[in-house]
Amino acid sequence: MCGIVGYTGPREAYPVIIKGLKRLEYRGYDSTGVALLNGGLKVYKKKGKVVELEEAIVGKDLHSHTGIGHTRWATHGEPSDRNAHPHSSASGKLAMIHNGIIENYTQLKKELSSKGYSFKSDTDTEVLLNFIEEIKKNNQCGLEEAVRVALKRVVGAYVILLLDQDDPGTIIAARKGSPLVIGIGKGEHFLGSDASPMLEYTKEVVYVNDYELAIVKPDELVLKNLGNEKITPYVQKLDIELAAIEKGGYDHFMLKEIFEQPQTIFDCLRGRLDIMGGTITMAGVQNHITQLKNANRIMIVACGTSWHAGLIAEYIIEELCRIPVEVEYASEFRYRNPVIHKGDVIIAVSQSGETADTLVAIEKAKDQGAIIFGVVNVVGSSIARLSDSGAYTHAGPEIGVASTKAFTAQLVVLTMIAMKIAYEKGTINQERFNHLLNELHEIPNKAEIVLKQNDAIKKLAEKYKDARDFLYLGRGYNFPVALEGALKLKEISYIHAEGYPAAEMKHGPIALVDESLPVVFVATRDSYHEKIVSNIQEIKARKGKVIAIITEGDETITDMADDTIAVPEADEIMAPMLSTIPLQLLAYYIGVAKNLDVDKPRNLAKSVTVE
Ligand code: G6P
Repeated sequence: MCGIVGYTGPREAYPVIIKGLKRLEYRGYDSTGVALLNGGLKVYKKKGKVVELEEAIVGKDLHSHTGIGHTRWATHGEPSDRNAHPHSSASGKLAMIHNGIIENYTQLKKELSSKGYSFKSDTDTEVLLNFIEEIKKNNQCGLEEAVRVALKRVVGAYVILLLDQDDPGTIIAARKGSPLVIGIGKGEHFLGSDASPMLEYTKEVVYVNDYELAIVKPDELVLKNLGNEKITPYVQKLDIELAAIEKGGYDHFMLKEIFEQPQTIFDCLRGRLDIMGGTITMAGVQNHITQLKNANRIMIVACGTSWHAGLIAEYIIEELCRIPVEVEYASEFRYRNPVIHKGDVIIAVSQSGETADTLVAIEKAKDQGAIIFGVVNVVGSSIARLSDSGAYTHAGPEIGVASTKAFTAQLVVLTMIAMKIAYEKGTINQERFNHLLNELHEIPNKAEIVLKQNDAIKKLAEKYKDARDFLYLGRGYNFPVALEGALKLKEISYIHAEGYPAAEMKHGPIALVDESLPVVFVATRDSYHEKIVSNIQEIKARKGKVIAIITEGDETITDMADDTIAVPEADEIMAPMLSTIPLQLLAYYIGVAKNLDVDKPRNLAKSVTVE
């Protein structure tokens, strides 16, 4: 996590960096800092969000044409001014920012302490910086060489950006495991954790790879490996527009992104779904169709909301393709000794494409012969690049920390993959395939209809905002939706919420039910409908408050529940794409009613690049 920005060129560096940091705050907002080169090094940093630093340094000398900036998600050392990046070296001549974790920093710190170094912060970053400075001094070499030597000793993940007061105009950067993009302008260069800080300046970018070092000057970019050999930068064109990362009149990015869903789902289907021709075109699937349809097993690896999308995909793939599916938390999968057979297919699901646990999990599986299929939102991200094949979700940049539109786009892509495999494998006939195609085609319109319930959901949020706990229940395809609804509420409103399979509720959570507990049932009409109606009655019999997400026209549940939100009828496979939306809105409005920062909930970060 953490966001990093760098600039070198003819512009004033500070405004470019500050604007860039604001766009990267989704990566963490525990503290903010900048280091500016102008003759000497000026470092300004502060606990809190970017705007707090900005206010605190009004009137200071901010003039500079080369600088770096950082927005932090704390790992080593509490959020505080002194633990904020950039860190300065013992001599005061070097400044560094870091995204990642240096795992062997205790050992390096001991070595440095024995040589008389003392430390101003509790961070692993300051240790690495002084380790670099020590090498520079000892070997009497330049910063570039010192960084190269130091990184050979480093265990962990990093993107680092360094400034040297004796080498004005130059930024040295290196990456392993955390993302780094360099934007190429005319006589200027931009650096960022993603491309958002550079969108208005250039469309030409280079994604730096692991174990690469960049020496960045206004009119020159040199890329090298750690063996000091030059690498030709691979320049790519960005296709993101500035409007995509702005709020566009909404109060929050989260609300904007919830409301974008009819469009993002449509974008996801566009060019792939052909109703007239009765086909789905997905080159990534087609290129590996033999392996996919003959897979003995598919494993889905993901974290957080993406893991919930994986759970729904498990139900869909098993139903349509008759292939056994296992869904794994990437963080668990990577540390156990999973049985992976050559030819197993791993589907990695990730919005950011940078989640460290997912990335390492698939690296490991790939080494053991698995085929990696990436379902990723961010184009050119690490997971996308590591995958053998894949399909982008095309949801556009997602800025709100709680994932919304990326989730529904993941469901759409995973459903299309399942349909395509099933069709090619012959486990569904043309009639069922065509029916599902039509159903998918209708989802954007139906999502639009769901969003019309916005005001009703806002009222519900007012009614239930003071509850201490929530229970979310669902069955079948809607069980993972219950998990996702509970996660959204926890993330945004800090209310404790649990998601459970509705029937499993009898084995424990039912003990929590009393008149103060709101229980959200995801109860759209499907093959389990009668069963979930019984579960609702079980809750009502114990005086729980029932909020039910139902299919339009469901009088049975309307009569039983305290409150209902109706969504249009849809095939049960696709119901989660609709039933999730009211739960996103409910969490959002409860967060707003409690006056919380819904786009940047406490302690969270959007892109989790630490383990
Ligand atoms: C973080 C985010 C979640 C996200 C999860 C996985 O926890 O706050 O919204 O679902 O990471 O991220 P990914 O980018 O891999 O989908």
